[in-house]
Amino acid sequence: MEFRSLLFEASEGVATLTVNRPKALNALNEATLKELQCCFAGIQDNQEIKVVILTGAGEKAFVAGADIAAMQAFDALAAREFARLGHAVFNLIENLPQPVIAAVNGFALGGGCELAMACDIRLAGENARFGQPEVNLGVIPGFGGTLRLARLVGKGRAKELILTGEMIDAREAHRIGLVNQVLPPGELLESAVKMAKKIASKGQVAVRLGKEAIDNGLEMDQDRAARYEAELFGLCFASADQKEGMAAFLEKRAAHFRGR
Ligand code: CAA
Repeated sequence: MEFRSLLFEASEGVATLTVNRPKALNALNEATLKELQCCFAGIQDNQEIKVVILTGAGEKAFVAGADIAAMQAFDALAAREFARLGHAVFNLIENLPQPVIAAVNGFALGGGCELAMACDIRLAGENARFGQPEVNLGVIPGFGGTLRLARLVGKGRAKELILTGEMIDAREAHRIGLVNQVLPPGELLESAVKMAKKIASKGQVAVRLGKEAIDNGLEMDQDRAARYEAELFGLCFASADQKEGMAAFLEKRAAHFRGR
């Protein structure tokens, strides 16, 4: 598939995906969502790619939301289908075996905030702005905002953001736990690449199982989550990476992981 609103590059195990519709502040229309879906479907089967960075083209926006011009004439059925497509794409990103880092370089509003929340780690430029402004348009978040925002920042703060439609800056997003780090805009991508390379240098069996344990464990009660973690911990010991990691520690040398 040839991408029209997505840029893709990969080097040293790190893929960088850029939503590229800067004239519309990288708003997500159906075609862009389908390109994201196609690209992430390819990435999930690609063993060479260990970490993904997701960002937006231009200096102004990560993604300013679902495309309002495209949605304006939707009827109820078309809107539901559009939301289902968004959910399918964002679930694919959330469940990707590889970690995904959002490098939020500007507005992350509505579907853009929802896209960032489907990623594992969010790094924000000081100029980033977050919000779920759908209420200003007479709608509610449709790509997972009501579920992921409440899980990330708690029910009260999620309701405040979703019901007022107000934007918050990167510092406030950091304070409430919506983003992991705030960085000067000029250092954002570089920091994301540095973090991605650090993760890519680790044993990938452990990286993938660690992500899985957190995501699935959070949906379970504590006893089941503990049993699940013990199972995955056991699985690590069936890997060459565990043998190498522990041998390297005891032999006081750097580990050379092979991802199996
Ligand atoms: N959809 C379509 N086009 C958009 C867009 C969006 N979400 N956001 C911005 N654009 C377009 C603008 O229409 C404008 O296009 P033209 O140059 O052709 O007029 C261009 O991008 C630049 O935007 P502005 O001139 O508005 O730039 P600004 O600096 O004055 O304002 C902004 C920036 C505050 C982000 C403002 O553009 C804005 O409020 N955008 C909409 C944000 C929004 O409401 N997002 C939620 C969408 S609904 C949703 O996402 C539902 C869901 O959960 C699935």
